[in-house]
Amino acid sequence: MAWCATVLTLYPEMFPGPLGHSLAGRALAAGAWSLRAAQIRDHATDRHRSVDDTPAGGGAGMVMRADVLAAAVDNALRREPELALLAMTPRGEPLRQEFVRELAGGPGVVVLCGRFEGMDERLFEARPIRPVSVGDYVLSGGEVAALVLLDACVRLLPGVMGAAHSGVDESFETGLLEYPQYTRPYDWEGRLIPEALRSGDHARIAAWRQARAVEDTRLRRPDLMERRGGVPGHRPLARGDDRDD
Ligand code: ADE
Repeated sequence: MAWCATVLTLYPEMFPGPLGHSLAGRALAAGAWSLRAAQIRDHATDRHRSVDDTPAGGGAGMVMRADVLAAAVDNALRREPELALLAMTPRGEPLRQEFVRELAGGPGVVVLCGRFEGMDERLFEARPIRPVSVGDYVLSGGEVAALVLLDACVRLLPGVMGAAHSGVDESFETGLLEYPQYTRPYDWEGRLIPEALRSGDHARIAAWRQARAVEDTRLRRPDLMERRGGVPGHRPLARGDDRDD
């Protein structure tokens, strides 16, 4: 069975959106994964088909109702009981490559997309839903976050990335940011491709890349460095192997 994604949303027309193009779109057309976007409002029960109500305790905006969301979730899980159940919310745990790999290695996901001021918290007590955030900023809804999560998963599915390159050197796969890349022309506006990369010496190239991955991670993402517990045995770039700028 192909990897299966069900998105529960008030805006099913937002899908597949960008995932209908390029790598993910070709994989979708080829049947490497499937996507179903289901309308949450179909599970509303009152005559106004309402999915939200005012926040208990007062405050701005509206809150998505637990009963309507639970009906949408239960329906999805009845159809596909083995899928991981996620909800996109800025209150969730940060999405990381390790979790993406775990999801891509499983049968697929049901992704609930929040809107408005959030979802009634009782939903998370009553159903085994994992809340997931794509970063420390607030989007106007969970749909764009769901597209991010699905894109990250789909590119890891067997055969999707195509080339022999399996992404092992990529940012986060090693716990570091990826080393910087260069291509022709050799001289662009007086900036040269680093000497080590043109040496043809594979050991030297690998050492240069590892050193730059460590250096850039240290500068840009000290939090990642911390998580690795530092880099034992790391040797700073030797003179002459340093950046040319
Ligand atoms: N919905 C709104 N903001 C979000 C975020 N940062 N991550 C996941 N879902 C969201």
